[in-house]
Amino acid sequence: MATADSSAPRSTARRLEQAKQVEARKVARRSFLRVSAFAGLALFTGSLLSGFLGFFNLRHPTGFGGVVTVSKARVPQPSGTPERVSDGKFWLVNLAGAEGDVLGVGGAGGLLALYWKCPHLGCTVPWNPGFQGAQVNFPGITGWFRCPCHGSTYSRAGVRVFGPAPRPMDTMLLSVNGDGSVNVNTGKITGGAADNPLRAVAYNG
Ligand code: FES
Repeated sequence: MATADSSAPRSTARRLEQAKQVEARKVARRSFLRVSAFAGLALFTGSLLSGFLGFFNLRHPTGFGGVVTVSKARVPQPSGTPERVSDGKFWLVNLAGAEGDVLGVGGAGGLLALYWKCPHLGCTVPWNPGFQGAQVNFPGITGWFRCPCHGSTYSRAGVRVFGPAPRPMDTMLLSVNGDGSVNVNTGKITGGAADNPLRAVAYNG
């Protein structure tokens, strides 16, 4: 009788201990599964976000929408032929003094980045080197921007002189680097206005 009485509590204690161990293993397994699920979700979300940023080119925009660098060799001379910068969709112009100021606002010359999208209906505006200003009542001037779609015509500073466009050509934020190259931020566009010539940035090469 004495043996049976002492073994019963030991057996109960062992069963309790085993039950505790089983429960602990279940908790550990559930925790592991939960952590794995969160990790998987985080990875999935990360790859989706990365794909989104990549698709819309938001991480490090290059070309149009970002900063485009124009080497010193491509910067026109004052009064020279404007440089077409295709990857930034702009014309780089080097104004001599108040050149292109057809409305009398003034200007000391320098570099201007003109967004080539026509403010009328969006056609690409080319530089027309042979265009005679006399055709639009500005005799003595040769070479202006002229839109092929509806004839809007702009001075060398992008100021509208003729046609249906509601305003001058838009300008982009421009800065000069120490090595004579130029950075144009094609994501920073300012609506064109009569003061376009005043926006020119001094350039000494
Ligand atoms: S789109 Fe340029 S004048 Fe109409």
